[in-house]
Amino acid sequence: MRVAGLLAGTLFVSHLVSIPIVVGERQKPFSGAHPLTGGKDELEQWIRQQDAYSRAHILSNIAPFANDPSAMPGAVCASPSRSHPDYYYAWTRDSALVMNELLSWMEHNSSMSGLQRTLEDYVSFTRHLQGLKGLRYGLAEAKFHMDGRPFTKSWCNGQTDGPAIRGYTLTRYARYLMRQGRDIEHLYGLIRTDLDYVSSVWMQNWHCDIWEETRGLHFYTLMAQRRALTEGARLARMLEDYEAATGYEREIELMERRLGDFWDERGGHVMTTIEWSGGLGSKHSQLDAQVLLASLHSAMDDGVYTVESREMLATALRLLRAFEPLYSVNQVLSAEINQAVVPVGVALGRYPEDVYNGVGTSRGNPWSLVTSALAEFHYRLALEYAKRGEVRASEELRDLIQWTRRRYHEKVEFKGLLRYLLGVGDLYMARVYLHTARDHTMYEQWDRLNGYGRGAVHLTWSYAAHTAASRARSRLVELIAREA
Ligand code: NOJ
Ligand code: NOJ
Repeated sequence: MRVAGLLAGTLFVSHLVSIPIVVGERQKPFSGAHPLTGGKDELEQWIRQQDAYSRAHILSNIAPFANDPSAMPGAVCASPSRSHPDYYYAWTRDSALVMNELLSWMEHNSSMSGLQRTLEDYVSFTRHLQGLKGLRYGLAEAKFHMDGRPFTKSWCNGQTDGPAIRGYTLTRYARYLMRQGRDIEHLYGLIRTDLDYVSSVWMQNWHCDIWEETRGLHFYTLMAQRRALTEGARLARMLEDYEAATGYEREIELMERRLGDFWDERGGHVMTTIEWSGGLGSKHSQLDAQVLLASLHSAMDDGVYTVESREMLATALRLLRAFEPLYSVNQVLSAEINQAVVPVGVALGRYPEDVYNGVGTSRGNPWSLVTSALAEFHYRLALEYAKRGEVRASEELRDLIQWTRRRYHEKVEFKGLLRYLLGVGDLYMARVYLHTARDHTMYEQWDRLNGYGRGAVHLTWSYAAHTAASRARSRLVELIAREA
């Protein structure tokens, strides 16, 4: 195995600099610390406990509910909070992301196949929502009441990432069922409905972004749409629905060309929105953590804005630089877990100009799900390098590593790039630990001044972002143990 050779031969016997360099210049040697020098076991234990708690809480946010018999089975509430803020709705985006997470558990562990019941509820709920008539934005309505009624008050609607994420989630579920020799007839029609819609609207510029504030063409939304059509076209071919497949493939080509327009060469990062057409006009930096989420949720195995792409490495660093000075809590450099002291990384928010405080508007805060995503980003970066058996040296990778080291300068030896990235991911996990309640309750945000939970309590997506990061970490830890 190439990875084995790489790990044994080079990575773990030497300093980071000796990672095999395939293209580009050789990096200058440096010695430094594995950033996490103590408390690794304690942190790991917390991650596990938080994972179990998060899974339970995700499931308890999915109807049926004993305390609300009117909620339709399969409806996921964004949070059980019904006031300040009222998040007791089924958002299409949050729900599909959560169902995707459930699918990861099921694919990873056959003893979780009982969750199929929940997926089937979600399929029925989707059939209900797709059948609703008279909605201004139809499939792109952002959210619905938990009993399946449309939400009719004013909202930044037309969120077309929703049907796209749902489309690829249902496609993934269809593949899961097919592997078990099961029928997917009840699914394919729903998938086509979402994908046909995406195919017909993606190029227009009225879409509202995932933060529900800005209209235009959005990187996150387009990445989700591209994944949906790509996986949908593959499924259509398998089912010999060539007409649909060809139609989707035509759009994919155009989408990929459009995606290139999001790279800002001068600014050196991926822009969040182009062709702005309304809503929030104050995001001058064009820097937004939803770009990172786009790569984690929707990049495929083809190098297009994947975690290890130069574009994503550069954007991650730009985000770190922008957010570090923004929040007072980022002056805290360590946390105590069961008497062990661990270094903590930077807390990230949505975008620097953000003013949403979780209930109303004043000043934006760091977000739990975004900071978990940053941890996941580093774990997946390491997994990607391990899978390829090589590291492409780039200025962007070097800059990201050097920036991180500048913040944490203990003098311990590096144990290779994979371990280093594990340690860096752990910095951000430790940050999430620091601001998560000791009983494991998660919120949407953390107060930028004192670090306490703010905004919606028990936000389903915050838990799902933790379980996703924790899964990537476990895979990485296993791999390192196997190859060491
Ligand atoms: C609620 C939205 O969900 C949030 O993303 C947005 O920032 C605020 N409304 C703006 O008021
Ligand atoms: C506000 C976030 O901006 C949006 O992305 C999310 O869908 C809703 N909250 C519900 O969690």
